[in-house]
Amino acid sequence: MLKEKVLKAINQQINHEYYSAFLYLSMSAWFQGKGLPGLANWMFIQYQEELSHGNKFFGYMHERGSQVVLKPIAQVETDFESVLAVFEKAYEHEQFVTASIHKIMDVAIEEKDYATQSFLKWFIDEQVEEEAHASEIVERLRMINGQTGGILMLDHNLGKRASTGS
Ligand SMILES: [Fe+2]
Repeated sequence: MLKEKVLKAINQQINHEYYSAFLYLSMSAWFQGKGLPGLANWMFIQYQEELSHGNKFFGYMHERGSQVVLKPIAQVETDFESVLAVFEKAYEHEQFVTASIHKIMDVAIEEKDYATQSFLKWFIDEQVEEEAHASEIVERLRMINGQTGGILMLDHNLGKRASTGS
């Protein structure tokens, strides 16, 4: 059984992960509506990844004989100012998630919960990648500077992203 503080933090993280999934699904829908299927595809895969993150925490709770308590998912944004604004938001959100995972690690260290510390390592590495991907796209979009040609090219390239099934 997990200690109360660790349990509470992981339950909260499950909510963050499913919220992330909904946020990216909403961004995917927005891109679809703007006629950008490649960006919609990229965000849809991001949605699937976030679901799998939520499921990983969910599974870990069960492995440790602890009760998952699901909370309502907050309303996600459904409208965005621009393609750049979407990715800036995604990058900002990933930084929030990273900080949140680091806080769980702090709790696991405080509580001397070595198994949770080991489990969290995968997420800590994953967040480095998540932040790098989002930040790279933000940088590219800043260079594109709203030019239709550049956005269509990015849409084409990000449309090639395939689901990793992770
Ligand atoms: Fe995640």
